[in-house]
Amino acid sequence: CFQLTLAIIKPHAVKMPSALHSIRRKIISNNFYVLNTKEVMLAKADAERFYGEHKQKFFYNRLVTLMSSGPLHVHILAKDNAIQSWRELMGPTKVYMAQFTQPATIRGEHGLSDTRNAVHGSDSETSAAREIDFFFPGFNVDGWRERV
Ligand code: CMP
Repeated sequence: CFQLTLAIIKPHAVKMPSALHSIRRKIISNNFYVLNTKEVMLAKADAERFYGEHKQKFFYNRLVTLMSSGPLHVHILAKDNAIQSWRELMGPTKVYMAQFTQPATIRGEHGLSDTRNAVHGSDSETSAAREIDFFFPGFNVDGWRERV
């Protein structure tokens, strides 16, 4: 089914032109529609809110620090099965898994550590709707679904 997902290119990848270019090319060559895109800088409090579900995790502080360290490139992507499709293109969260088992994925190519893993993607329709609303308040997620 046609789905939307929220994709974020993380600050360390935005700062590296070759990584940014390669990630954008993968989005296009894998036939995602880019419905909306913007560059944003998150305040620390915004990053804390976005990643609230990870508050108890040992990596929460470094994640929030990374995500508020520079501009993010945020995209609403659409495709059949977009959520899983984008997650497959990203590859595993853990950088050693990505590099050794799926080196052609975005994280395999551009991940630097488990935190600086280059990209984010929604993990369910519920989180996609929440994350799209976080970055693009007022974007009509259900309206898009009805039109395709
Ligand atoms: P993301 O898809 O943005 O969602 C949660 C983020 O937490 C994840 O990508 C990583 O950046 C970070 N993360 C997840 N697991 C770990 C880990 N084991 N160690 C460090 N950072 C992690």
